[in-house]
Amino acid sequence: MTLFYNRAIADSELGPFFIHQLGDDIKNEDWIEHIELLADFWLAELLGLKTYKGNIYGAHIKVPHINRESFKKWIELFTTSADEVYVPDISNRFKERGMFFSEEFIRYLKI
Ligand code: HEM
Repeated sequence: MTLFYNRAIADSELGPFFIHQLGDDIKNEDWIEHIELLADFWLAELLGLKTYKGNIYGAHIKVPHINRESFKKWIELFTTSADEVYVPDISNRFKERGMFFSEEFIRYLKI
């Protein structure tokens, strides 16, 4: 997760969205909270645990200027990061859910 977010912060397309909302220091309080929330989200997604009680659609409506290209870039970085960290069985599950939500957001946000 930190590998992906370090890359997202450094990326010229995705960086500004995250920096605007959470700052550019992945060790600050907002980032730590975000990463914990995302860990809960992925535990819920992949293992079916009841760990995530956030508002995933509401959170992305708040992100100004997010567009289709941003999601393309998100998938690209997420895919390479997952492939580097996990064995194929696991990384494929992350990628499948990542792509599913990207498509959902594009539909939901009408972008
Ligand atoms: C271009 C793509 C994306 C951008 C720029 C982006 C950006 C953000 C930002 C800035 C937040 C923090 C909002 C806040 O705390 O105020 C957030 C929250 C979150 N994102 Fe994304 N995101 C993207 C794609 C995705 C995708 C594809 C997923 C799922 C696979 C995802 C899952 C989440 C979750 C679970 C949260 C926490 C929501 C909550 O507050 O409960 N994001 N995202």
